[in-house]
Amino acid sequence: MSNQQRVIAVIQARMSSSRLPGKSMKDVGGIPMLGRLINQVRGAHSLDGFIIATSTGPEDDEIENYCNFNDLLVVRGSRDNVLSRYVLAAEVTDADVIVRLTGDCPLHSPDTIDEVVNAYLGAGVDYACNTNPYTRPDGQDVEVFSRQVLRQALENAEFESDREHVTPWIRRSSELRRLDFFHAPPHLRSARWSVDHPDDLEFVRSVWSVLDHGGPGPFDFEEIMSAVKESNAPQGKSIINEGFYLSLLNEATAEAAAPLDLDESFRWLERSDQVIPGGAQTYSKSWRHHIRGVTPIFLRSGKGAMVKDVDGNEYVDLIQGLLPNILGYADDDVNEAAAKQAQSGHSFSLAHPIEVELAERLCRIIPCADMVRFGKNGSDATAGAVRIARAYTGREHVAVCGYHGWQDWFIGTTSRNAGVPKGVQELAHTFPYGDAQALDALLSSRKDQFAAVIMEPVNFNWPEASYLESIKQIAHKHGALLIFDEICSGFHFGLGGAQKIFGVTPDLATFGKAMGNGWPISCVVGRRDVMKVFEDAFMSFTFAGDVSAMAASMKVLDILESGDAYARMTAAGTKLFDGAKVMADRLGLGERFQIKGHPHWSTFSFVDENGKDDAAARALWLQELTRRGVLVLTTFNISSALDENTVTKVLSGFAHAFKRVALAQEQGISPAEWVDGPLPIPAFRAR
Ligand SMILES: Cc1ncc(COP(=O)(O)O)c(C=O)c1O
Repeated sequence: MSNQQRVIAVIQARMSSSRLPGKSMKDVGGIPMLGRLINQVRGAHSLDGFIIATSTGPEDDEIENYCNFNDLLVVRGSRDNVLSRYVLAAEVTDADVIVRLTGDCPLHSPDTIDEVVNAYLGAGVDYACNTNPYTRPDGQDVEVFSRQVLRQALENAEFESDREHVTPWIRRSSELRRLDFFHAPPHLRSARWSVDHPDDLEFVRSVWSVLDHGGPGPFDFEEIMSAVKESNAPQGKSIINEGFYLSLLNEATAEAAAPLDLDESFRWLERSDQVIPGGAQTYSKSWRHHIRGVTPIFLRSGKGAMVKDVDGNEYVDLIQGLLPNILGYADDDVNEAAAKQAQSGHSFSLAHPIEVELAERLCRIIPCADMVRFGKNGSDATAGAVRIARAYTGREHVAVCGYHGWQDWFIGTTSRNAGVPKGVQELAHTFPYGDAQALDALLSSRKDQFAAVIMEPVNFNWPEASYLESIKQIAHKHGALLIFDEICSGFHFGLGGAQKIFGVTPDLATFGKAMGNGWPISCVVGRRDVMKVFEDAFMSFTFAGDVSAMAASMKVLDILESGDAYARMTAAGTKLFDGAKVMADRLGLGERFQIKGHPHWSTFSFVDENGKDDAAARALWLQELTRRGVLVLTTFNISSALDENTVTKVLSGFAHAFKRVALAQEQGISPAEWVDGPLPIPAFRAR
């Protein structure tokens, strides 16, 4: 039972719902939705009781009447301050531990509730939930917290959304000990079983019509899963947490954010202008790609999801060094591993055993890897891969798709081709992503001349596995090797890269970016007979065997293999992706704001009414976001260091920024008029 603590489920329920009026009492096979949930909750052994918490609004009389008629404990309180209703419910029931359930989840299961409550009691934490990330369908949500924490939440709630959604303050608080509970696989994180829209209700009715054949219940999760499969009903499509995103939007104003003090940034820029052409060592880190006078130019420090600029302004960083910091800045464990190695030397005169250990490990993780050579940058790896492909095939031409680095053979295909000899440019040819026939035509146009097809297997477009398979067949039909450039996809979409996700194994592949969580390391991996060419072909540079970065990489792999980093990235990335969409849609910007990609790495843009890129709207949005403490370039680069606090800060920044753009549109003002600096120079496009 409950460890001497009195554990009470508080079920919030209401009739008013703009999307589904009368929601809680909607009929589900002759029983109101709320009654279905209560019947399920009765099966939870970890509970000492439950109470329904509804509002004092007259529309909720029906809920009270239903509870009274069925001898159910009910309490009524504020309609909008649901948090205060919970405090009331906790007092009425004298609960020590509160289990938060919502009346719109008639397919909840008692074993799900028990698992989370028992985990909470066992871990001795202040708060536990099974929604960060979802490992069971939406509609199986459980949050558990103490009465003491609930009181603290009421006292400290800052926003309306804290009161309406009960737990945002608790989830943001860094002082409280929390447990993110994961149910055992299979993980059904995208399934939706809660009821918000008429479609959701139809789905739930179909499932219950199957369950009702199995007796009076309660039914456990497995039984519900089988009924879902048997009913074969389409699940609702609405977005999880939509109400929370809309609350943040409600709280936001369309007022311009105050400009940041960037004096120090400009002082450094003046000095930099004298000694550093382009102002940064990496193209996309230059101030030219941001709004001058609005965005900081120099950063001083970073920890986790946050960075501080030279003026002391702090930001949630959604650039994360252009993807390397998959665990966030300055991860303690990774840095400790690298520092420990550095203390016993790191740029050695001969090879070091850790090179072998890391190579062996990568060969276990990456499907195409029989052998490995290391580099420092992604460009080292792609250059090496293309060189051995040329040496292996005795051919010179390459087909390229995506971005592959700064070396002549690739950058010569872009508009930044200054300084690349014509003869080199003539050897590389681009092909469009997603069009296998175009590649076939390209390779046919120079029969037996292509050494390799090098491509990003996935970036912001999610391919069919059949597309990647046909690319492989086409490359091989023409005698070319297939190289997957997984510098970005490699560790961001999971260990093993896109080749593992899609089950298509290339001849060679390149990895980099997140391999060392910011410690510079990359690699080319591949088929033994091709990799052996490195014994003759030249890939060599002084720091390729720097073992501190290798020690960092070993630790990154430890963390990614055994921890919940990917799950946390999915939770954070999904919230930003969904939150942005919900807010843009609600403000009528749904057609103007576009976002695509994977929750861990997505890209966004603004377009005008003719579907053309709207750089001014984008700049205004970014200006407002930056000034509210969120640093973004063109993509959302998600790290596992993003927590509820930083995610909420970003979402709240989105809300203000969207409102500002919407206001400009409403008033017929060109967004450029509200941008306090020249529009950034767009980067050349390779994707
Ligand atoms: C897909 C891809 N390949 C190669 C590279 C080149 O990597 P680096 O800049 O580390 O040389 C990049 C860099 O952004 C990349 O995104």
